[in-house]
Amino acid sequence: MENYLKAVKLTDKVYWVGAIDWNMRYFHGYTTERGTTYNAYLVLDEKITLIDTVKKGFKDELMARISSIIDPSKIDYIISNHAEMDHSGCLPEIIDEVKPTKVYASKNGKKNLIDQLGELDIEVVRTGDSVNLGSNKFLFIECPMLHWPDSMLSYLDQEKVLFSQDAFGMHLAGTKIFADQYDPNVIEWESKKYFANILMPYAPRVLKLLDEIPELNLDIDLIASDHGPLWRKDINYILDMYREWSIMPPKKCALVFYDTMWGSTENMAKSIADGLRDAGIDTEVACLQQTERSNIITKIQDAGVIAVGSSTINNNYLPTMADVLSYAKGLKPKNKIGMAFGSYGWSGESIKNIEAELKAMKVELVEDNYVVKYVPTKEQLEDGYNRGVRLGKDLLERIAAFEAN
Ligand code: FEO
Repeated sequence: MENYLKAVKLTDKVYWVGAIDWNMRYFHGYTTERGTTYNAYLVLDEKITLIDTVKKGFKDELMARISSIIDPSKIDYIISNHAEMDHSGCLPEIIDEVKPTKVYASKNGKKNLIDQLGELDIEVVRTGDSVNLGSNKFLFIECPMLHWPDSMLSYLDQEKVLFSQDAFGMHLAGTKIFADQYDPNVIEWESKKYFANILMPYAPRVLKLLDEIPELNLDIDLIASDHGPLWRKDINYILDMYREWSIMPPKKCALVFYDTMWGSTENMAKSIADGLRDAGIDTEVACLQQTERSNIITKIQDAGVIAVGSSTINNNYLPTMADVLSYAKGLKPKNKIGMAFGSYGWSGESIKNIEAELKAMKVELVEDNYVVKYVPTKEQLEDGYNRGVRLGKDLLERIAAFEAN
C-alpha cells in the first residue's frame, strides 16, 4: 500500500505509530464526543519493539506509520500491555505479517489474548521481569484491573518512558501528540471523564500503583498511554489528579440530575439547586433528556452532593434514570451525600426506587425523600429550597471534617 502516514518521533529511540479514530462517538456506553486514538509505539534499539497494536480496522494505519521509518519485518518483539480489543484486535494479523521472535504479555494477558483471538505464541512476563533491547531495557509492572485483569505497564529505562496502556489516557482524537499542546480545560475534562467512566471502580488499585511508581524509583520523562495525548511537562499533574480522583474527597460541588414528564420534577430540581447555591455550593443541574450517562458520572466524580429526581411512569422512574442509575452503581462512586425527589400523579414509586438505588450506591441520604403530587405549590418549592440549603451546609461540615483528618 502507499505509505501516506507518518510516525511521530517522541524521544531518541521511541516513535508514536498509533491510529486516530476521529469518528468514534460511542465506546461501550461512554460517549466520546472528541473521538479517540489507539496509541502504539515503536522502539528502535538493537532489538526493535512494538508496544501494543490497534483496534481491528486500523491495522493499515498502524503499518503505514511503522513503514514510514522501518521495514515492519524488522520488528523483533511485540509487547502487549493490555488485551482489550482496542489494543489487540489486529495483533494476530500483525504477528502473521511481522513474524516477531517474541510476543510478551502478562500471565492474564496471555490467557485473555488467546481466549479472544485464538492460539498465539506468547511469553509471560511478571512484575520485576525485564527484557534487554541493546542500549535500553524494558521493566514490566503488572497492574491488574487498570483496566482489565491482564493490564501491565512497561518502562523503558534509558528513554525514561512509561508505557501505561489505559492508565492516564483519555478519549481525545488530535494531531497534536502531547497534553500540554491542548487547552488545559479540555485535558482536565477528558482525562477526568476517562477516569470516571473506566477506572473509578478500581480506585484502590490506582492508589496502589501511585505508591508503587516512586518505590520502583522510575525516572519518568514521558507517560505514554494507549489513548489520547501523552504527558511530558505535566507528569506530576496527572499523577496528582489520579490520586485525588481515586480518593474522591467530598468537594464543594453538587449535581442535581433528573428527568421530568411535565416540568414539576424539573421545578423541584431548580428549587433544590437554588438552596445549594445559597449555601455556597458550586451547583449544576442536568436533565437526563439532554445529558447522557458518561457525562453524568463525570460530574458525579466531583460532586459532594447528588440530588436525584424523576417523575413516576408505570410504577417506576423514567427510563433515562434507569440507564444512569444502573451505570453509576457499577462505577462505585464514594463520599457522596444526597436525596431522592420527584413528582407523581398516581402512585409515586419512582422516588422510593431512586432512594433504594442511591442506598445501594452507598450514597448517604441525609434528607427524607422530597415528594410532590402533581404540581409543586410555592410552599413545596420553598421546602425544596430549604432542603438544598441543608444539604449544602451538611456538605460543608463534612468537607471540614474530612480535611481535619
Ligand atoms: Fe483501551 Fe481497556 O482498553
